[in-house]
Amino acid sequence: MSLTLLVLNGPNLNMLGTREPSVYGHETLADVQALCERTAAAQGMALEFRQTNHEGEMIEWIHQARGRVSGIVLNPGAWTHTSVAIRDAISAAEVPVIEVHLSNVHKREAFRHHSYVSPVAVGVICGLGSNGYCLAIEHFGHLAKG
Ligand code: DQA
Repeated sequence: MSLTLLVLNGPNLNMLGTREPSVYGHETLADVQALCERTAAAQGMALEFRQTNHEGEMIEWIHQARGRVSGIVLNPGAWTHTSVAIRDAISAAEVPVIEVHLSNVHKREAFRHHSYVSPVAVGVICGLGSNGYCLAIEHFGHLAKG
């Protein structure tokens, strides 16, 4: 398998920069992508970065990752709290997933405290802003180096 990572972003994350900046900050998704690409390059890994507002598309990307990439950094956005289908896609794909959230979901509304994804993720990072994506990429980089 190639040393390729997928970074997948769910709904509304295309609005970063203008979306509730007091919660999500001023960085745009393009800024997060550039940061992820630099971090992956420093780890010697290739990276594909995507965002969708369509749950079926996200599920297909997760299926297609099977046997093709060494890990997925996933910010499922609101699907974290609603989607059994995304959780099942992760189980079916058998690709390690690190769940990332920009905000600390546990400091927020009660409905954000439950994640359907966490039980099938290898780990969860939340509340560290875009640095959470970097830490997840670095973790996969360390694993790849053994
Ligand atoms: C989020 C947290 C979710 O609760 C929310 O629905 C999002 C973004 C985050 O990155 O903090 O869309 O995943």
